[in-house]
Formats: sequence, C-alpha cells, structure tokens
Amino acid sequence: MKTYKNPLNMKIFNKVEEILTWPVEPRSPMNQLPITESFYTALEEAFKVEVRDRVYDIQLSRSHETIEDLVHEIDGQYTRNYFTSESGTYKGLIDVEDYQGQKIESIDHKWQLRGKNLIERIKKMQNERPELSILDLGCGYNGYKEHLKNVTGVDPYIDKADFVCRIQDFEPPQKYDVIICLGPMNWYTYDEQYRNMRKLKECLAEDGICFWSHVHNYFKIFQEDAGRAHRWIAGSLEDAFKNNAFYFYDRIWQYNQYFNWTEEALESLCQLVGLQTGEMQYDDCGLYRPPMWRLFCELRQLKD
Ligand SMILES: C[S@@+](CC[C@H](N)C(=O)[O-])C[C@H]1O[C@@H](n2cnc3c(N)ncnc32)[C@H](O)[C@@H]1O
Repeated sequence: MKTYKNPLNMKIFNKVEEILTWPVEPRSPMNQLPITESFYTALEEAFKVEVRDRVYDIQLSRSHETIEDLVHEIDGQYTRNYFTSESGTYKGLIDVEDYQGQKIESIDHKWQLRGKNLIERIKKMQNERPELSILDLGCGYNGYKEHLKNVTGVDPYIDKADFVCRIQDFEPPQKYDVIICLGPMNWYTYDEQYRNMRKLKECLAEDGICFWSHVHNYFKIFQEDAGRAHRWIAGSLEDAFKNNAFYFYDRIWQYNQYFNWTEEALESLCQLVGLQTGEMQYDDCGLYRPPMWRLFCELRQLKD
C-alpha cells in the first residue's frame, strides 16, 4: 500500500522529540542517537488512534537513516489511517447513514456549492454542453460520479477514485471544463497548497470553472494557539461531539497538521499561480455546534 512522502509534519516531529527526550533536528542521523526498542514501541503507542471501537495502529520499520525519515513514515501511515477511518472522508452524498446505520439528510445539501445544489448547477451546464468534462479533486468515494456524466475522480487514499494519487502527482490527460475541489487541501504547509493550486490551474480549461471550498476554522479549533487564525465563535465542543458532528472526531487525530484557509490565503495563492477568485462566501453550518464555517469560491483562469 502506497504511503506518500508529504511535507514534514511538525506536530509529529515535536512528539517524536518529546518521546526521545533529547532535542534533535530533522536531519539528525538515527545511528548517532540513543535509540532503543522501547522508543519505537512508545511511538507506535502514541500514534495509535481509536475511533469508537476500531483501532487504527501504525507499525514502524526500524531502519530509518534520519529523524526526518522516521517522521515521514509515521505521517504516511497516520494520514492514511485518518483518511480511511470514518473521520477523514465523508462516505455519502445523497444517501447518508449515521454511525448507527440510520438514514440521515446529508449535510452537503445545506450549501449552494455542494451536494444536490452543485449537482443541479452542473447538470444545467451539461444540458447546454453535453461533452462537458468534470474533474473531482479529492473525490473521496467519488460520489459526484454517481450523479453526473463524465466525472474523473482523483484521491490518493480511497480506491474508488479513477486516479489514486495526490493532486500534485496527477498527470492530467486533458483539460477539464469543471473542477470540483471540496476539501482535499486542508493539510500541511503554504507551499503544499501552492503545489496543489498550480496543478489545479494546469488542469482547468481556458474558460473552465472550479468550485472550491474548504473548512476554515479547522486550524483555530485544533491548533488554538495558532496565529493568523479567524476568531472562533465559542460554543461547546462537548455538545458538538455528543451531537455526532463527525468533524469533531478530528480532535482525536491530534497529529494532523492543518492548513488555515482564509480569504487572505486563497487570494494570495491564486495570485501566485494565476487564478482569479470570485466572490468569497462563508456559510455557517448550523448543524454543528459550535458553528463550523466553510469558505466557498468559484475560481477561473486569470485573463490579461
Ligand atoms: C474532507 S474529504 C472530502 C471528500 C469529498 N471531496 C467530499 O466533498 O465529500 C477530503 C478528501 O481529500 C483527500 N485528500 C487528502 N489529501 C489529498 C491530496 N493531497 N490530493 C488529493 N486528495 C487528497 C482525502 O483522501 C479525502 O477523500
């Protein structure tokens, strides 16, 4: 099973250093450190995650050259566990069940640029241009493909995708008239988002449109001490947890390194790669407590 060498996850690096109890650098050679078997078992314990009654564990090789190699191996397994667990990727689109198997209305339909509303909008476009091509970046279980014609899904962790790879590794066989990009860019660094945005631009047809949306309070909720974050409208996380607000299971996945999407971040990245942002909208999703906000925007190729 492929694990990706993502940017160095600093939350994992910090935890590794804490368990080692000595200050190190990413490039510190492992054979010059006091590494014991109990160090590895402590790491495997620390990065094991239990969601309800399921355990997502990691198994480390003992052959890393540097601390950086070790951190990458932990991150690769931990991230895959996160995305393939019920916390990381939403399975349903139209027909959704809660964790007890009860049918519930998908939260996706609350927004204009997701779920049923997005499907209706693209269907209208397809009625006018039947050959319209659609690319779903970070497609998860490839739900839009079940409701729209001509959809190609890209996702590195879910094998329902047509291309099982990261956005930045995708080699587009063509340009796409419509790109759906709902949620795959929420992790790691600014330069990681730069690579993602570059690829998004490369995939977008000259007159194409990208429906883009990312959660923007993740950063504030899960990294409360972080700068450059929006103010969080306080509420009870405990209440949210009890109310099956599934995003809050992310609180158990404390070593994901989130990226904070703000208007500033989106504007500056689009400018860097040559994309034009439309109006930015937030939608307070009343189903979560405290409110979980998403940033929505339509992106197009920048014209001179
Ligand atoms: C929050 S889920 C959203 C899934 C789907 N787009 C939706 O709206 O329901 C994020 C998805 O992005 C995928 N993902 C994570 N990192 C990615 C990357 N670098 N490139 C492409 N997809 C990625 C995950 O596997 C996951 O399926």
